Amino acid sequence: MAKRNIVITGGAGFIGSHVVRLFVNKYPEYNIINLDKLTYAGNLANLKDIEDKPNYKFVKMDICDFDAFHKLMQQEQIDGIIHLAAESHVDRSIKDPFTFARTNVMGTLSLLQAAKLYWESLPEGYEGKRFYHISTDEVYGALTMNHPEGIEPPFKTVASSEGHKAYGDDFFYETTKYNPHSPYSASKASSDHFVRAYHDTYGMPTIVTNCSNNYGPYQFPEKLIPLFINNIRNRKPLPVYGKGENVRDWLYVEDHARAIDLIFHEGEVAETYNIGGFNEWKNIDLIKVMIKTVDRILGNPEGASLDLITYVTDRLGHDARYAIDSTKLQKELGWEPSLQFEEGIEKTVRWYLDNQEWMDNITSGEYEKYYEDMYKYNG
Ligand code: NAD
Ligand code: DAU
Repeated sequence: MAKRNIVITGGAGFIGSHVVRLFVNKYPEYNIINLDKLTYAGNLANLKDIEDKPNYKFVKMDICDFDAFHKLMQQEQIDGIIHLAAESHVDRSIKDPFTFARTNVMGTLSLLQAAKLYWESLPEGYEGKRFYHISTDEVYGALTMNHPEGIEPPFKTVASSEGHKAYGDDFFYETTKYNPHSPYSASKASSDHFVRAYHDTYGMPTIVTNCSNNYGPYQFPEKLIPLFINNIRNRKPLPVYGKGENVRDWLYVEDHARAIDLIFHEGEVAETYNIGGFNEWKNIDLIKVMIKTVDRILGNPEGASLDLITYVTDRLGHDARYAIDSTKLQKELGWEPSLQFEEGIEKTVRWYLDNQEWMDNITSGEYEKYYEDMYKYNG
């Protein structure tokens, strides 16, 4: 296989760190550059196990810095970009939408334009090149909950939980019209459109994928699953938005990373693939599973932490239900999830309980001091 020089943006974040680890371990002949600004969500402790590998390099850079990224493309002769860097938390986007527009829209545009300038300057042009943009199912908007008690689902995968239910008749397909509601999803939708525009206008070989909610190790503890596991352990309140009836569709993060690897190498240019495991959960049911699992592992009596559930004011514009149809990816590229949800949640809870130092470094703010100014790119 030809040597490939690949930039993975946002590699110090949750999903990005799993993608970087997979590529560094699986492709020793590639040069993998992890490009990350190290915002509050970036944490190089996520990659300690691979940081000394010869095919890995970290570059501290803002994706909005067009000149720096263009220079990096030239110096490292980049032929593949896997773009995950983003502001990713819906609640933060409601408080501070500008940061989301800057990073998610302008940052993505900046990468696209720098890649265009560099690739178009080469004799072979776009041949063998790839710009792969990682997006979210939230761009499709919200599905209705017309079966609040749940129905027999039309689909099932390895990831589907035991007694798996669907809470509505409809699903997100690749053809579903974009209808984002939050500033986060609006910014992701906009970036998806820019990526497709660079294919349609300039012929850049782009791919976009839209994935459902990820869970697993190294997720920043502002998101539901790590936040609640940590709060249960510390006997802190569990703030459930609204009635806890909203539905999310959960996929183990390593299964997402494997899909990204497959699609980067074998996906069709200009195509969109949905990624998800057909695994819908009402928030409150998922929270009860987390409570049960943490209590069992910590040796607490069953139900001991149920009193921590605290219903709070709902998230503004809270999308009712996400449920993704990933049939295209399964049929065309042969991907399927590897982990059943019950196994995945057990593994995840154990990981957070076993890696208390990782969690404590974040909650104390210690993690941000580790790598300050160590990795500025200078060629
Ligand atoms: P995350 O917040 O954990 O990580 C984001 C990373 O991007 C961090 O390392 C951060 O430092 C970096 N970053 C932010 N702004 C940057 C900038 N201006 N320049 C360079 N780096 C910057 O996010 P995540 O949950 O791992 O999500 C990764 C990607 O996957 C995002 O694009 C997100 O929209 C998408 N996605 C996430 C999920 C999910 O459930 N988490 C599901 C589908 C899609
Ligand atoms: O669907 C994919 C998206 O999933 C990604 O694009 C986002 O980057 C990712 O953050 C995630 O978005 P959500 O808003 O679904 O994830 P979050 O973990 O913030 O919330 C999950 C659900 O739990 C949601 O319905 C809101 C609810 N919630 C969340 C928090 C943090 C609570 O009830 N209480 C909480 O404290």
